[in-house]
Amino acid sequence: MTSRVRKAVIPAAGLGTRFLPATKAQPKEMLTIVDKPAIQYVVEEAVAAGIDDILIITGTAKKALEDHFDRNFELETLLERKGKTEPLAEVIAIAEMAKFHFTRQGQPLGLGHAVLMAEQHVGDEPFVVLLPDELMVSRGGTVKSMVDAFETYGASNVALREVPMDEVSSYGCAATEDVADGIVKIPHIVEKPAMEDAPSNRVVMGRYLFTPDIFEYLHKTTPGVGNEIQLTDAMAQIANGSGLYGVIDNSGSWDAGQKLDFLRAQVELGLQHPELGADFAELIKQTAANL
Ligand code: G1P
Repeated sequence: MTSRVRKAVIPAAGLGTRFLPATKAQPKEMLTIVDKPAIQYVVEEAVAAGIDDILIITGTAKKALEDHFDRNFELETLLERKGKTEPLAEVIAIAEMAKFHFTRQGQPLGLGHAVLMAEQHVGDEPFVVLLPDELMVSRGGTVKSMVDAFETYGASNVALREVPMDEVSSYGCAATEDVADGIVKIPHIVEKPAMEDAPSNRVVMGRYLFTPDIFEYLHKTTPGVGNEIQLTDAMAQIANGSGLYGVIDNSGSWDAGQKLDFLRAQVELGLQHPELGADFAELIKQTAANL
């Protein structure tokens, strides 16, 4: 196994049923936040953490994802002819920021099954998984901390957030033992436990770093919660095998797959936008004053 983490897997095959009607005819990952599709934030996050090879797991009606991360000769020619150099450089840069690969899940059998689709591409390398619904406030910082933890401990790890106990049943939830500042060992992990059965309030955010033996465990994983092959169930096995660590990260994220949090992302990322931020702040003040 090589030790440098250079590959990322982004499972993007879901149908986006939490976001209808917007997702009736377009992938949820392509919904725009300020001026970019949601998935571009996640790809940029991976690139900022040093990843240069990205496999996106897609499904039916997801062709727009492939087009977005490809060159577009017709558009580039038009922009060039019109002398629009800045947008031209921007659209080319999207396709050049990493090496992109796509494969399809075929059947919606769960997140663990989606990650299993990456087995051949990943081969014998450590890799990260980024769930594209979750946009990290820290940008590449979280994944970078996970890569650092992998270099120190040599085992798989996952980003964990501390949430109020009444929210744990929405997430993978970890039993933890403190190892170092912000780093825990995970002896056990369980998908979406009832609050009274939860081992802690430390839950899985959508950022994972796996050693390639995760695929052996995924092959052995039978359907769990929701009758789906759960990634968390394979992680419970890796915790008993080559080991599993947690990187505690309370810096926050936006859930781009959920309508209200999507609006929060528009507002907060709009305010941070280098060109639009100041005018947008003024617009919000005026709107709030009229409420
Ligand atoms: C998935 C995982 C869960 C994790 C969550 C993070 O759940 O199965 O373990 O905590 O993502 O967003 P989902 O949100 O797809 O139900």
